[in-house]
Amino acid sequence: VNLIVSKEPIRVCVTGAAGQIAYSLLYSVAKGDVFGKDQPVNLLMLDIAPMMGVLEGVKMELQDCALPLLREVVATDDPEVGFKDCDVAMLVGAMPRREGMERKDLLAANVKIFKVQGQALDKVAKKTVKVVVVGNPANTNACICAKYAQSIPRENFSALTRLDQNRAQAMVAEKVGVPADAVKNCIIWGNHSSTQFPDVQHATVEKNNQKMSVIEAVKDDNWVKNDFVKTVQTRGAAVIKARKLSSAMSAAKAIVDHVRDWWFGTPEGTWVSMAVMSDGSYETPEGLIYSFPVTIDSSHKYTIVQGLTINDFAKEKMDITAKELQEEKAMAMEACQD
Ligand code: NAD
Ligand code: LMR
Repeated sequence: VNLIVSKEPIRVCVTGAAGQIAYSLLYSVAKGDVFGKDQPVNLLMLDIAPMMGVLEGVKMELQDCALPLLREVVATDDPEVGFKDCDVAMLVGAMPRREGMERKDLLAANVKIFKVQGQALDKVAKKTVKVVVVGNPANTNACICAKYAQSIPRENFSALTRLDQNRAQAMVAEKVGVPADAVKNCIIWGNHSSTQFPDVQHATVEKNNQKMSVIEAVKDDNWVKNDFVKTVQTRGAAVIKARKLSSAMSAAKAIVDHVRDWWFGTPEGTWVSMAVMSDGSYETPEGLIYSFPVTIDSSHKYTIVQGLTINDFAKEKMDITAKELQEEKAMAMEACQD
């Protein structure tokens, strides 16, 4: 049986499709890295009117890749066309931060995009649509998007903190001297911003066929609490400073990881970090899009990992990032009034 022919295509929308993250992301989606090598996809590419010429070029290149899984490719500046009956929406489109800017500087301009897109998703997307917000401030944009898409379940909205998780994992792997996949269960708590808390208290590493805790393997409490946390928190800014552009290859890779795990589930005994609607777990205020460790089953349902011990150091850091998210949410609600 030719599975590629037998499966119905799914509809995947990527916004900001003419931008730099999308340039890597679209290729990965179209060649089966996210939904599997037997799942055909229709790509719906959304950007703004002035970018339609560039987007046509991206469409030509996608066609020229001659990818067997790629069926229909739509390029549009109309959210109601881009989100029509879509199964998955990757909301990348927004203005990126430049050198010296904090994420808050972007807030007023970018949240309004997510109000409009929430309304459009509400109107035309499938009610089962899975949404990942990447455009910054990602958590707060996701919160606004969900608010304006009341007919879609809250748990279908997420924001990307997988890039931060990948950064944390790679940094620990380098410190311990193992490949990146030998490190498991690093956690990102809170906001995708410099207040996030990268936590390795519950993480494990496998070295020389022996599994141990990261704390035990690193043997450097000062590094875990200071250098490590700070470097992960400020990695986005460091990339911007060096490249004069925000991270794109690594961001696209993280989106692939996030959506693939949401689609297929997480392996037994491992969890991943996703910013999702807080239900009050770990005393976080309800209604914020806060990054938690989650496990995901084979029917796309995630569950926030419960029962992890939170020490005073972690609690303090988790509260700081929650407070920032509350402030961002208040500012975003105000910006959406006008
Ligand atoms: P980019 O400027 O190269 O591309 C952004 C694209 O979005 C542009 O083509 C722009 O025209 C488009 N766009 C703007 N408004 C739009 C709208 N209303 N609808 C549809 N498209 C719209 O930027 P990039 O480097 O691809 O980054 C995109 C976003 O992702 C930025 O906000 C950036 O800060 C963010 N980002 C997030 C993470 C994360 O981990 N969450 C990581 C890296 C970058
Ligand atoms: C990143 O983490 O690389 C992006 O969110 C870019 C930024 O503004 O930090």
